Amino acid sequence: MRVLGINAIFHDPAAALVVDGRVVAAAEEERFSRRKHGKRPVPFSAWELPELAAAWCLAEAGLKPGDLDAVAYSFDPGLSRDAESLGLDDPWDHLRVDYARRAPQFLAGALPGLDPEQVRFVPHHVAHAASAGLSVPEDSAVLVLDGRGEVASHLAGVYRDGQLTTLASQELPHSLGLLYEDLTRHLGFLHSSDEYKVMALASYGRPKYLDLLREWVHADEDGGFTVERIEWAALAKARTADGEMTDDHADLASSVQVRLEEVLLDLARWTYEASGGVKTLTMAGGTALNCVANARIAAEGPFDRVWVQPAAGDSGTALGAALSVARAGGTVAPFAGADLGRGWSDEQLEAELKRAALPYSRPPSIAAEAARVLAGNGIVAWYQGRSEYGPRALGHRSLLAHPGDADTQTRMNDVKGREQFRPIAPMVRAERFADIFEGVYPSPYMLFVHKVKPEWKDRIPAVTHVDGTARVQTVHNETEPLVAAMLAEFEQLTGLPVVVNTSLNTAGRPMVDTPREAMELFGSAPVDLLALGPFAVHRASTFGDGR
Ligand SMILES: [Fe+2]
Repeated sequence: MRVLGINAIFHDPAAALVVDGRVVAAAEEERFSRRKHGKRPVPFSAWELPELAAAWCLAEAGLKPGDLDAVAYSFDPGLSRDAESLGLDDPWDHLRVDYARRAPQFLAGALPGLDPEQVRFVPHHVAHAASAGLSVPEDSAVLVLDGRGEVASHLAGVYRDGQLTTLASQELPHSLGLLYEDLTRHLGFLHSSDEYKVMALASYGRPKYLDLLREWVHADEDGGFTVERIEWAALAKARTADGEMTDDHADLASSVQVRLEEVLLDLARWTYEASGGVKTLTMAGGTALNCVANARIAAEGPFDRVWVQPAAGDSGTALGAALSVARAGGTVAPFAGADLGRGWSDEQLEAELKRAALPYSRPPSIAAEAARVLAGNGIVAWYQGRSEYGPRALGHRSLLAHPGDADTQTRMNDVKGREQFRPIAPMVRAERFADIFEGVYPSPYMLFVHKVKPEWKDRIPAVTHVDGTARVQTVHNETEPLVAAMLAEFEQLTGLPVVVNTSLNTAGRPMVDTPREAMELFGSAPVDLLALGPFAVHRASTFGDGR
């Protein structure tokens, strides 16, 4: 069975292809269109489809639109109600529903040969749930939280033998995701995009409004929750994008963050009881990208294991919708890794280097070559294998640096044009994790924060956040042998089993996807080595030592 999944309705348009129960390809439209998040998160853009990502998914599998058995669209307009009755202040919301209803025709236009009758609507939160619950081999409880779907902002359920039973669902306007988006906007950031900045800012503040937030935001007896309307300006002045960041802003971020964690823990405990004590929790929905909250759920919640879908935001509903429809026709394979996007052969990479007339070499080991540059405090653009699905760079489109230099964070944030309060994250070989960090293990998708052991804080200052934590990616030999080899070489040279890993992009741009974009980044940022597949391009031999 061949199922193409499509997310287009709110933001982060994406496509995913499942063939005979296996995920063959999945990618976000932004990697192709080079527009961050693919489009603006407004009702007027709901008709825009992930045309490029969908066409690529089909090409990757050698399929034509007419070969598909189904197209799974991650929103069901049949479930929608008008915004006013949902308590939403969104006068144009009906456009979303209209566009969704016409999605089969839009899709047939974008993918010539597709029969519009093949399009199936999958409820938004069922798609999120499937992206998590169908990704693990065992039965699991599932918790979905985001800004909103058709009429709800949450789903608690349980997957048994691949079948979802919904246990609870919270209707709008109550939404923990929209609460966090509202705060993001109030703090001068871009909502539906920069929520992770609020999470980073929170660790600089004190939760001084926590008592008030406990009154306004709380879980209920039935697995749902209440979120009252909050007058943010009464707590801290609205900030503009370039306005000054004050302690009040950090305190507000801290208060909301802590309250979010508390309520999520309550919801996780309720879900555990209602599921009859299933041992694994899986999570998806934009709120599941909150790695501080995830770590608390794993540490303090009742589950033995917590698994979070790396594409937890709306892009992941393309995969979830496809899995949900595919599961109805047979079994589906567990999630094997986030490297589901575009990749290039060595021959193709070499042809790109030749075309760009860059001086390159093919060292005996690109892992050792990168480790040498990193050990000398150089910055490495690491471009290997297929690109990642979801917002995290996981060693395929990564910018790497030395963790032992406190200035690394400033340098990296400069390269990427990021705010200096934002932390940078470490990758570590799985077998060394427990020597340096405490907390959730394994963490191959960087979705939890961890405590840095006291004796290591001064040795890896670049990746230790102000609150003594780090958002770790554990690297496993079996799944990421090349990255593991690079880390092992780096440890040989420096005694440090950790390397700084951030996404390969510059300010405001989507992650690098193609070799050409990697070379463009190399040419425009102070990167010392471009490791493009097995090939090495050194800054000094390309531009001379211009510093
Ligand atoms: Fe969503």
